[in-house]
This record gives sequence, structure tokens and C-alpha cells, in this order.
Amino acid sequence: ARAAGMAGPSLTFAEAPHSIGESHQVAPGYDASVLIRWGDKVLADAPSFDPLGQSAAAQARQFGYNNDFLGYCPLPAGSGASDHGLLVVNHEYTDSWLMFPGLTEKDGATKVTREQAQIELAAHGLSVIEIRKLNGHWRVVEDSAYARRITLDTAMAVSGPAAGHDRLKTKDDPSGRLVLGTLNNCAGGLTPWGTILTAEENFHQYFAGVPQGPEAAAHKRLGLVGKPEYSWGQYFDRFDVTREPNEPNRFGWLVEVDPYDPKAQPVKRTALGRFKHEAANVVVNANGRVSVYSGDDERFEYLYRFVSRDRVDLLNRANNRRLLDDGILYVAKFHADGRLTWLPLIFGNGPLNPGNGFHSQADVVIEARRAADLMGATPMDRPEDVETNPVTGKVYMMCTNNTNRKAEQTDAANPRANNVHGHVIEMVPAMVDGQPDHTALDYTWSVFLLAGPKGQGRYHPETSESGWMSAPDNLAFDPAGRLWISTDQGSAQATNNIPDGMYAMETEGPFRALSKFFYACPRGAEMCGPMFTPDGKTLFVAVQHPGENKGSTFDAPSTRFPDFQPGMPPRPSVVAITKKDGGVIGS
Ligand code: FEO
Ligand code: CA
Ligand code: CA
Ligand code: CA
Repeated sequence: ARAAGMAGPSLTFAEAPHSIGESHQVAPGYDASVLIRWGDKVLADAPSFDPLGQSAAAQARQFGYNNDFLGYCPLPAGSGASDHGLLVVNHEYTDSWLMFPGLTEKDGATKVTREQAQIELAAHGLSVIEIRKLNGHWRVVEDSAYARRITLDTAMAVSGPAAGHDRLKTKDDPSGRLVLGTLNNCAGGLTPWGTILTAEENFHQYFAGVPQGPEAAAHKRLGLVGKPEYSWGQYFDRFDVTREPNEPNRFGWLVEVDPYDPKAQPVKRTALGRFKHEAANVVVNANGRVSVYSGDDERFEYLYRFVSRDRVDLLNRANNRRLLDDGILYVAKFHADGRLTWLPLIFGNGPLNPGNGFHSQADVVIEARRAADLMGATPMDRPEDVETNPVTGKVYMMCTNNTNRKAEQTDAANPRANNVHGHVIEMVPAMVDGQPDHTALDYTWSVFLLAGPKGQGRYHPETSESGWMSAPDNLAFDPAGRLWISTDQGSAQATNNIPDGMYAMETEGPFRALSKFFYACPRGAEMCGPMFTPDGKTLFVAVQHPGENKGSTFDAPSTRFPDFQPGMPPRPSVVAITKKDGGVIGS
């Protein structure tokens, strides 16, 4: 028991049920209401969702599938408004067997028709919607001038060292500077100048054909081995690497989108490197330069950081248009003694030379993984979201899991063999004049928590039976600097027998790492996109792939969340969580 007179944790909510159900569940005293679902109107002239009458033309105007990253951008821009804004949403991937009748999970690459493939292409990308809070309830603003769908037909520019390089040129784009669309947009991040970064993650799974020729080894390093999860290569040449070997080099980037200008062309920022980006989070340093953290979510891959050459202009957003094109990309090496070193990935530095097949900085960014291998970076247990605590300046990385790590491969930063449950690493930049310096070459680090059931995991000792998590994935900080973690157990949800959802904790003081369970996803769903409004009174979350568990299909889903109507399949949905008394989330 706590000593008399000692204050308790600042997170006072009673925990949500730590059990899997057909619907979602939130802590008592809170409302969780669905804001928008797959198939709902985004553009004003979109037709209503008809699960048996889908078309690519309709889907391109409707909300896409598998909502992941959520970015809240206040209206007007820069106002800090917490009751009116734009919500930018990633649509990471599609589940054909939950979208269309008559399919099972193994049919995605074989039985999906050309027409269904075109619907899938239109269900990827992003949505921008305008939202407003009236009488405590969030609603989508219809007929908004900001409303936008970005799909695999949307033209995007390429900037930075790889723009226009031969390795990015294709039959359809001899310039190497104009790509159609963005793929597998997992998480992302807001920039301080009012744009968002959206992260291209598992782009390899869309490409058919066994790579041959000069790109074969580089493609293989990224998992392009002719075993696609999608049928697209049968119908569209650009998704067959034997026909268009450079097309994969046009994905795997961070893409900058300006949600305030629905006509603005998204830009692929190649200076930030090409790998399976989970997310991207930007922090401004005291000297005005920005640092961007981004994890490469695959087993034994790396954590990266980009530092801009120039200073941000927070007064004139147009002046930051090229800020992410010039700077230095680094990769992290975690030392056993608690030091962290950032290794620069610069053409000509050490092994990054023609002898190793690097002829320019374009080669370094296109093959960032191989450059990082040669520099001696630390292979991690799947780096997912990485974000800075706005109150303390410390940086937190979710290492989601790695069941392939053997005992002899463990190290201080990846301490468990067969790491089923994952862990969270805390990184501390040096302080300069009382400010964290995210440009420094040396940090310190430690393990913040080990996920897993009590007894296997390591949390604050007062963590309840409901507070344990598995597979930390995304994170958000509330305005008080408290850490909110979302989880993605995948198929382990069934064996762990707990839902995915949101966990909250303090990072400093006597209740550091006292994890509390706040919100439970419905069966088969992972939790994505946690995003607070600036006042901390709304938490937006993304319920991704409800019903995506073994044996569940469109025809016989394991849940029909959120509609629960006969014939209506489960629908990925964005949920707005508010406190019934209007107070701060978690208080
Ligand atoms: Fe799309 Fe790393 O999760
Ligand atoms: Ca994720
Ligand atoms: Ca985040
Ligand atoms: Ca994940």
C-alpha cells in the first residue's frame, strides 16, 4: 500500500475491461463514438456505401480501408483550435476477404478480380476530412472544401537526392520525378509547419515477379521475392518487377502532404531514406533545425534520424517547402553501456563508396538498409513508432516484437530471445542550455518497459492485472506528457487472449511505467492512430481491420463492428473518445 499522504497517479480513470468482445469498450465515464467508417462519404458527391455494389469510382470518393495514422490539424491553421480541424487519415492496406464476398484469406493474390483490384487501389492512400465538435460530439463536415482522397492514381512529386535518378525512372515516368500514389501508409506524424508526413511501410507485398538484373539484390533486401499478397501484378504492369523493375524504388519513402491545400501535390522526401517506414515524428531543436525520427519495422532492422541543414520558419510555412530535402540521415547504434551513437549515412563516408556499390547519395538513400548494415547499426526488434515527450524531451521507441531473435542474438537493447511481446526504449538526448539537443551525435538510452503478462513483463509494480500489454506499436503523448501506447498483436491476439487497445502511463516520478488499460478494440482489430486534440479533451483512435482473425470472412465475419447489421461486413473506423464530463482524457 502507498504511504499515507502520498499523492496517487495523475491518471485516475478506472480501467476498461481487458477482454476481447465483438464491440469496442472504453473506461467508465468516457464516450467512444464512431466518427467515420470505411465506405463513408469523403467527397460531397460520393455515393453511399453498398457492400454488394462497390466500384473503384465510388471507393475513390469514399473513406478508404484500414485507417492507421490520424493527424489532427486545427482550423484555422496554427490556431490550436480543439473543436474544429482537419483529420488526415492513412489507409494502410486492404483485406480482400473481408471486403468482398466469396473469398478467404489465402485468395488475395490469386482470386481477386481486376475490378476488385481497382477497388483495392482506390481504398489505399489517405483521406482528409474536416471535423467539428458541437455540443461535445464530433461530426464530419459535409461538402468541405478541404475534403480529399489520395489514392494510387494521385500524382506525387519526388524531391531530395534520389529525385530524377535513373533508378527511379520507368516507362510511364522517364523523368524519375513523378510517381502515381503512395503504398502501405502505416503511421506518420505532424510537422510544426502544418503539413503531415505519411510513412510507406510494407510496399514489397504488392509486387509480383522475381526480381532480375541490377536491382535484384536491393529488392531482395526489402523482401521483394515474387510472393505478393495482392493480385495487382496480374493486371497492372507496374506491379510486376519483371516488367517494371524500378517501380519499387519509387515506394518506401516518407511523403509530405499539405492538408490545408487540397490541390497541393504530395512530395516523396528521399533525403529521409528508403525502408519500411513505420512513422515519422518531427521535433524542433533550440537552434531551429528539425530532427525526424523514423523506425524501420521489420525484424532486425534499424532506427533512423534525419537532421535538417536549415532552420524551420514557424512564422511563414511556405518557407519550409524544402526543409526536408537537405540534411543528414543517421542510423542508431545502441551500446551495452547505455550510450547511443548516431552514425551518419553520407556518400563517401567510410564504406559508403563505389567499392560497395554506392555512387552517390541517391544510392545511399535508395539502399538505406544496406548502408546502415555497413556502418554497423544495431538490429532491433522491429522499430515501430518513435516520438518525443513534449514535456521532458526524452524519446520513446516501440519495439513491437521479434520471435526470430535467438538467445545468442540478444543484446542490451534487445534483451529477450523469442521476443513475443516487445519492449519500449527510452532515449535521452544531451541537454544544451536546458534544452534537449536532438542533433547531438551521442544520447543515452535504457529499457523503459518490457511488455508481456505480469511476471514476464516489467512495469511499475502497482500495474493491475489489466495493465499488461503485448506488441506496443504506436504512441502519443497527451499535453501533460503522459505516454499513451496502442498495440498490434496480430495473430497473437488469440493466444494472449487480450484485446488490442490503448494503455496510458506516466514516464517520470513515482508512477513511472504504471500502465493502465483505457480502451479495447473489437475482436481481430489492431489499435492505431492515437492523436490528442491540443486541449487533451479528445483522443482520436483508429480501429484497424476489425474481424481480421483466423477463419473470419466477408460472408461470416467474427464481428460486424461497428454497424452490427446483417450483411454488413466489419468496417475499419475512426473513433473519437471524450470524457462524459468534458474533462481531460485520463484525468
Ligand atoms: Fe503497419 Fe509497423 O505496422
Ligand atoms: Ca503500425
Ligand atoms: Ca504517434
Ligand atoms: Ca504493428
